Amino acid sequence: MLGDEVLRRRAEEVDDFSADLKDLVDDLWSTMYHADGVGLAAPQIGVSERVLVVDVRDEENPGRVALINPVIVEASPETEKGPEGCLSIPGLEDVVIRASTVRVEARDADGQPVSLVASGLFARALQHEIDHLDGILFLDRVSPLKRKMLLAKWRKSREELKV
Ligand code: NI
Repeated sequence: MLGDEVLRRRAEEVDDFSADLKDLVDDLWSTMYHADGVGLAAPQIGVSERVLVVDVRDEENPGRVALINPVIVEASPETEKGPEGCLSIPGLEDVVIRASTVRVEARDADGQPVSLVASGLFARALQHEIDHLDGILFLDRVSPLKRKMLLAKWRKSREELKV
């Protein structure tokens, strides 16, 4: 949840492709589907490792991947505006500008190299989740005024929960 230090830390590279890693990927899938999300990164479940899952299958994209140590190696100069939310900041949503297309290189859970090109919602979800691995939240990608408004809304919703 917003405020947790692990969300603001740069997550560690994975170098051990063991059964523990597969368990972590399974945890991410089940947590993400349970919360009805389209992506989740390991720091969001308290694990500071460079692991993420995304599922945004549509006509345009294959869109279901578990990626280890993902790196954006190419991002299109063309950008797109689109709404984003985050399972670590429930209730908040805002428009974020992202590259329209990205090329990502990573490993799969067996340690095999993966290279993919994503566009549309798939590209957006990957950029959002890779940001999480660097301690960046979508709130950091909106204007300072918007961020102030979103944080005020967040604090208010938290206070209401405490009552
Ligand atoms: Ni998020």
